[in-house]
Amino acid sequence: MFKILLLALLLTTNAAIAQDRPAAPVSGFNPTQSEVQQKALLNGFDKILGNTTLPDSRAATLIQPAGPAWRDYRRSWLPWIAAAAVLGMLALLLLFFLVRGRIRIEGGRAAQTILRFGAFERFMHWMTATAWCILALSGLNIAVGRIVLLPLVGSDAFSTLSGWLKISHNFLAFPFTAGIILMFLIWVRHNIPGRLDVEWIKAGGGFIGHAHPPAKKFNAGQKAIFWIVVLGGGLVAASGFTLIFPFYFTDVSGMQIAQIAHGLLALGMIAAMLGHIYIGSVGMEGAIDAMASGDVDLNWAREHHSLWVDEKIERTRGEALKPAAHPAE
Ligand code: HEM
Repeated sequence: MFKILLLALLLTTNAAIAQDRPAAPVSGFNPTQSEVQQKALLNGFDKILGNTTLPDSRAATLIQPAGPAWRDYRRSWLPWIAAAAVLGMLALLLLFFLVRGRIRIEGGRAAQTILRFGAFERFMHWMTATAWCILALSGLNIAVGRIVLLPLVGSDAFSTLSGWLKISHNFLAFPFTAGIILMFLIWVRHNIPGRLDVEWIKAGGGFIGHAHPPAKKFNAGQKAIFWIVVLGGGLVAASGFTLIFPFYFTDVSGMQIAQIAHGLLALGMIAAMLGHIYIGSVGMEGAIDAMASGDVDLNWAREHHSLWVDEKIERTRGEALKPAAHPAE
């Protein structure tokens, strides 16, 4: 099958086979010779070139030696890694939920709330999160859509959908990148690891057991998420832009490495973010308020960020406090 495809490709593109010497025209090419065999072809020649009218002649590379290895990785390993990142993480979270249950506000809801995130911080969070969600879904479609979505929706719908998802992947890269730069600038000073984080980790962070280790604005778990987003997201963005602007930064082999790195980092990030989304919503009572209204329950804040509460009340002279909308328990 590959032989036929390769032959068709060679003939329709008036392809040429190149070593270090100039490319030979396809008219001198005998399709019955043993070198038509894929391996023999690639062993015998550095790369297979076509003709292109694009100004950059490197775009004429049709097949190069690392290509089959890259294709095999995408066909064999990538779907399993994607399944482990998404389904594996969902299974772990379900197990955690069944064992630990929802983390409740132990003191019950208080009569007061305290301002945790202002309007700009919430805008920045949701802009990045919305772009991220669509990037994650469209990225997963690039990686495993042919296996997962194509059999479900059929080829017409799949190709239309994939076209739109690919466009959204390219364009949402920009608000996503802007979001992680802003997050870095605004939150980095609260995310420098320190001695308190070691104590927080030793005490299980309140996830294992029911201790409430003291923490400032962000605890060690949130700091880990911050650095995964900033460093992981930064690397995902850098490798992604290498692919959006082909040949600007590297050659075909470099872009293959960039795509593999991009996919693996993105899948790691998807697994970590599923954990973040779980704790921020169903996993912990009261957590979603921080990014919804911005005001969190005072008891929640004292349990999870005791040092930050004291500092915030002192700094704002109590102005960050508000009466709770619902009656205290
Ligand atoms: C600045 C941000 C980003 C840029 C510029 C970018 C760009 C790209 C490009 C150009 C591709 C290759 C598309 C193709 O082969 O047609 C790609 C693939 C992919 N992207 Fe992104 N992306 C970004 C962010 C993300 C994020 C945040 C995620 C996930 C959370 C993600 C997940 C993926 C995945 C899973 C693939 C498929 C990898 C593969 O098939 O090997 N991307 N991205």
